[in-house]
Amino acid sequence: MFAAETYIERRRRLQADVRSGLILLLGNDESPMNYPDNQYPFRQDSSFLYFFGLDSPGLAGVIDIDEQTECLFGDDVTVDEIIWMGPQPALKEKCVEIGVKNSAPFDKLGAILKGALEKGRTIHILPQYRGEMVLKIAGLFEIQPAQVADFVSEPLIKAVVAQRSIKSDEEIRQIELALDIAYEMQTTAMKLAKPGVYERQVAGAMEGIALGRGGRLSFPTIFSVHGETLHNHQHGNLMKAGDIAVNDSGAETALGYASDITRTIPISGEFSQRQKEIYSIVFDAQQKAIEAVAPNVEFRDIHRLAARILVSGLKDLGLIKGDIDQAVDAGVHTLFFQCGLGHMMGLDVHDMEGLGEDYVGYTDSVKRNPEFGWRSLRLGKTLEPGYVITVEPGIYFIPELVDRWKAENKCGQFIDYNAVEKYKDFGGIRIEDDILVTQSGRTVLGKPIPRTIEEVEQACSSA
Ligand code: GLY
Ligand code: MN
Repeated sequence: MFAAETYIERRRRLQADVRSGLILLLGNDESPMNYPDNQYPFRQDSSFLYFFGLDSPGLAGVIDIDEQTECLFGDDVTVDEIIWMGPQPALKEKCVEIGVKNSAPFDKLGAILKGALEKGRTIHILPQYRGEMVLKIAGLFEIQPAQVADFVSEPLIKAVVAQRSIKSDEEIRQIELALDIAYEMQTTAMKLAKPGVYERQVAGAMEGIALGRGGRLSFPTIFSVHGETLHNHQHGNLMKAGDIAVNDSGAETALGYASDITRTIPISGEFSQRQKEIYSIVFDAQQKAIEAVAPNVEFRDIHRLAARILVSGLKDLGLIKGDIDQAVDAGVHTLFFQCGLGHMMGLDVHDMEGLGEDYVGYTDSVKRNPEFGWRSLRLGKTLEPGYVITVEPGIYFIPELVDRWKAENKCGQFIDYNAVEKYKDFGGIRIEDDILVTQSGRTVLGKPIPRTIEEVEQACSSA
């Protein structure tokens, strides 16, 4: 974990921003997989990790802003538990590591919260994304689970988002560490992906690298020759010459910071002419979108820039016709690019998405566009120095979507459906990197991972 001062300062700022009442930040509990003692790997809640730093289950932090006190609630392990789990640091030792002065057994928390409620004080909680935590809060407050949402605090959400959005130098070093692991995962995949190999063999090798480097995957790996399916978590295909595989994968460090990288790999070691043409369009869109990243620029404008480049490239190939800007205005790009250009990244790979995507990616004046394609843009607002974001354009030929649009002759004045028809067996191409917004522009984080056609082909053939 970071030094105690980091957590002390984060909590100090949180108090100043939220101003009054009690803040309750719950850490996660163990979560059973198929019976109580067989659990999913423990993952701490990212906001608890950010403010209280401790990566173990069964904890809660209370910050009483009015009384200017902080207390960590949890239980020391018993001898019976030590038999199975080994010795664990005592709660008091954990408090020292994060600069919290007071601690108490977990069963004291309910009375504190109920006392505060009886006095009419405000208790701020964050939105909950795990059913068991909803039940836990309902038990602590002695309310119905459906009433837990009434305690979700917009001031707390906004204060957490404001703070977690701007990455400190030590956080950026963590993300770069996660990118070191992603480099190894991606370049290993380039060597292993060959005709006659199953996707799962590559996905498994990458997960092994993440675990072997002391972390884990930052999200379930997308490694598929059906890259046109945006979040394809199936790894059952036997790869063959002529296929291309989308490899969207990343690691998180032991402290929980993520990387998120996509490369598209030719399974035979070389792209075909048709694959090169589409790859070059996506590459151009990514390159120009990265170059456009800077403070005071709205990310939705960069999304539009990328859409424009994709449309322009597809027009050169004869799939699209007419005026490029009018085509983008009509949403023509969404037949090929159905998702957003990128998202924030940090302790969560889609950073703070559990707090509400619109709090993270939009503002009162920059609102999400509800149109197909645009509505999947997770980040639209003005960029600020310290943001870490992904830039991940792609072109995806989804046969079912092409069929539907063609049947409706949707945007027929802009799309040559006979030409598009010939690409229905193409799959998809995505290229993604992780970018830090700086005072003067941007930095592409991490060691460069083979990205140009030549670099990728060379990495694929260097087994
Ligand atoms: N890496 C998966 C995603 O960004 O959605
Ligand atoms: Mn991503």
